[in-house]
Amino acid sequence: MIERRTRIGRENLNPAPGTLSGYEKELPNVNLWQFIEQGKKDKFIRDRKPSRIYLEVLIEQKKISIFFLSHIRVEKMSDKIKPQDYFGFIGPRPTVCVSTIDSNGNTNIAPYSFVTPLSFDPPLIGVAAAESRDTTANCRETENFVVIPVTEDWAEKGVKTEVSLPREESEFEEVGLTEKKSKKISAPGVKEAAINIECEFHKEEKIGDHILLVGKIVFINTDIEGVKNGRLNLEDLGSLGHIKGEEFCISKTVSRIER
Ligand SMILES: Cc1cc2nc3c(=O)[nH]c(=O)nc-3n(C[C@H](O)[C@H](O)[C@H](O)COP(=O)(O)O)c2cc1C
Repeated sequence: MIERRTRIGRENLNPAPGTLSGYEKELPNVNLWQFIEQGKKDKFIRDRKPSRIYLEVLIEQKKISIFFLSHIRVEKMSDKIKPQDYFGFIGPRPTVCVSTIDSNGNTNIAPYSFVTPLSFDPPLIGVAAAESRDTTANCRETENFVVIPVTEDWAEKGVKTEVSLPREESEFEEVGLTEKKSKKISAPGVKEAAINIECEFHKEEKIGDHILLVGKIVFINTDIEGVKNGRLNLEDLGSLGHIKGEEFCISKTVSRIER
């Protein structure tokens, strides 16, 4: 039973209609601003500034619910975002490991999320790697690489391959992954992975501050459980997506959209 329903906040903020998010907590004799402070501690409000919050408060007996109708003005939020932050909005991006080998036979593996299909015929895939990466150097040296979609069962190990080691040391051993001999190229795949996509180095292109390493797919080495309906069996395996920094997600749900 609602005892009181009131709107508070700085007037004339002209909030956009619609509830963006809500927060509920049992708090007797609550002081609203303390409540907001608590919300911050609970990491609910995070970096939202109370002065920019327009609230609808429902007080039901001892329970208080705060609904943020328009917590931060859109133009203020836009001020804080730089064009260079764009990739955090293009995500989650499929996360792969790229495995390579140098001309002395030293293997290397590292995670990449600037990865995209480029062409059906020929089947081309692009990985944008910084010039400084061993992956880039090895691709140039031995002209092949393996793209390995990271799945939930080995996600932590896959991300840990980011570790920077001297070229003669392999990240495979360091993180506890096992090399799997490839069928058509010299760079190894990952035994723990259900899918290993073997590529011949097709060409490279300098794009801004990255090198687009283009690979022509010559063989897709799959385990039976890795494939469903001719694509990655993400329902069972969970596909790792990179959002930004240390934020990742695992996708396991397939939705059908008529097209
Ligand atoms: C999830 C994730 C995604 C990454 N994506 C890229 C990328 O797309 N391009 C890149 O140059 N570095 C990327 N990195 C950083 C490289 O993995 C990291 O610099 C690594 O040490 C490179 O190893 P290498 O020098 O052996 O190639 C990513 C790191 C992580 C954890």
